[in-house]
Amino acid sequence: MTRNLEVLKTQYLKVDPESPEPELIKKAAEVINKGGLVAFPTETVYGLGADGLNSEAVNKIFQVKGRSRKNPLILHVSSLEQAKSLSSSWPQAADILAKSFWPGPLTLILPRAEGIPDAVTAGLPTIALRYPSSGIALALIAASGVPIAAPSANLSGRPSPTRPEDVLSDLDGKIDMILDGGPAEVGVESTILSLTEEQPVLLRPGGVTREEIEGALNQEVIVPDAVLSPDKPAGEDAAPCPGYYFRHYAPRAQVIMVAGEPEEQAAKVEKYLTQNRGKRIGVLATSENYSLYRNLTVPPFYLASLGSRSCTEEIANQLFSALRDCDRAGVELILVETVAPEGMGLAVMNRLCRAAEQQKI
Ligand code: TXA
Ligand code: MG
Repeated sequence: MTRNLEVLKTQYLKVDPESPEPELIKKAAEVINKGGLVAFPTETVYGLGADGLNSEAVNKIFQVKGRSRKNPLILHVSSLEQAKSLSSSWPQAADILAKSFWPGPLTLILPRAEGIPDAVTAGLPTIALRYPSSGIALALIAASGVPIAAPSANLSGRPSPTRPEDVLSDLDGKIDMILDGGPAEVGVESTILSLTEEQPVLLRPGGVTREEIEGALNQEVIVPDAVLSPDKPAGEDAAPCPGYYFRHYAPRAQVIMVAGEPEEQAAKVEKYLTQNRGKRIGVLATSENYSLYRNLTVPPFYLASLGSRSCTEEIANQLFSALRDCDRAGVELILVETVAPEGMGLAVMNRLCRAAEQQKI
């Protein structure tokens, strides 16, 4: 059913992330309980929350984001008991992972319990569960008394919002309320791990690394090819994230990855700039190459550092906001230096491959 999108006055509340004001949280919880939409910060990115047990409220999320209804949502909880109540079985691996990483940026896929609306799971027999660590998120979930269904608070296809202004630039006037808790800490979304197969399957790399999960479980995690090659349609057996099939993380500007060792990357960028003089090219560089690009004879139209390649957490933290800043600056084409797909580098490369739709020099 399509509902006409009304123009709303989006209420803006500034909330202290260290100690969320109870009266502000109460206002937000009231909106959730009435079936409205509230954008709120989590430690990964901003989420667009609705009462996860209210189909009508959940439907609004899809409508406002322009999201395919085949793409299921994550339910956010504020306790381990609440998570357990939403899945029909709780394997030992879930216990170990919950102990090690919850609350935190890890989402577990488990068999779903009864009573969860089909709109949340897109009709799948499984449910995505996440117990976030952000104080504002936890307070909001607890005050609402329901699990909160929340995708990233962006229009479908755009880079996830890591700052309140990114949420507003996509959703102002379309949602009931935004809680401004400042910039997100992690900057990329949670890791999604499926525990429905014999071996755990990494559906989306994110804030908890593959290496950390393997260390905690003392077991190898399967990483489907599709994590780094979104253009290869993953076979049914690869247990892909339904989200794989949709265009993702894309700024308005075209994105091209620059691969290779730092010196090679620098040479490729310089050549590209020279050959495409006059084009409004943005360069997102690692800090190792950043200063080189400031002194070129054909300098980039826009230049930013994502951080050091030896600290991929920093790069993950900067990536989405940097892509959005390029759009704001009027960049036509973005060259981004790639990093090794290890640790948080795997999440960075997963997002980049999708944003660039595999285009590489
Ligand atoms: O960090 C995060 O996870 C953020 C914050 C707001 O919590 N949320 C987020 O949600 O990234 P979203 O909707 O943008 O991405 C959720 C992904 C989608 O790609 C979806 O396909 C996948 O989770 N997913 C949800 N339920 C699933 C299920 N039952 N099986 C497999 N994948 C699922
Ligand atoms: Mg998203």
